[in-house]
Amino acid sequence: MGRKRKADPVTGTIYVLNGPNLNLLGKRQPEIYGHETLADVEIACLSQAESYGLEVRCLQSNAEAQLIDWIHAAREEADAIVINPGAFTHTSIAILDALNAFEGPVIEVHISNVHKREEFRRHSYVSLRADGVIAGCGTQGYLLAIDRVAKLVTATN
Ligand code: DQA
Repeated sequence: MGRKRKADPVTGTIYVLNGPNLNLLGKRQPEIYGHETLADVEIACLSQAESYGLEVRCLQSNAEAQLIDWIHAAREEADAIVINPGAFTHTSIAILDALNAFEGPVIEVHISNVHKREEFRRHSYVSLRADGVIAGCGTQGYLLAIDRVAKLVTATN
């Protein structure tokens, strides 16, 4: 009763933000990050979001300030954020602060299992804000994050 099914129309916008070096997806360390390009991932995100009636805006930058500006823009323009902050995950209090100023759901995605790698990758500033964290599921992690956001924004979670 009152539950929304996957096919129900849902209005909302998800910002899918990717941080430094993720523009090299498919070329950079494919043994860790796989062979799919960022364009492949973004197309898959668009289609996954569409299946829930959600819109996505996919953005990538190597610059911390640009990512912060997009998170600020999301305050007005997005209902949820899916973010892979790349190495800024482990260093950026400024990105954490920006996310703390965003009111909707935030899902943190890492393509690799950061807990299985170097010690410094085990700490995430972003996780202090994230409502969910997906790591080690490859690029499928972005789609799982969209599934989660769809559930959260339809208020039947
Ligand atoms: C990453 C993991 C980070 O430690 C790394 O700096 C990245 C990508 C991932 O998706 O697995 O750039 O966020």
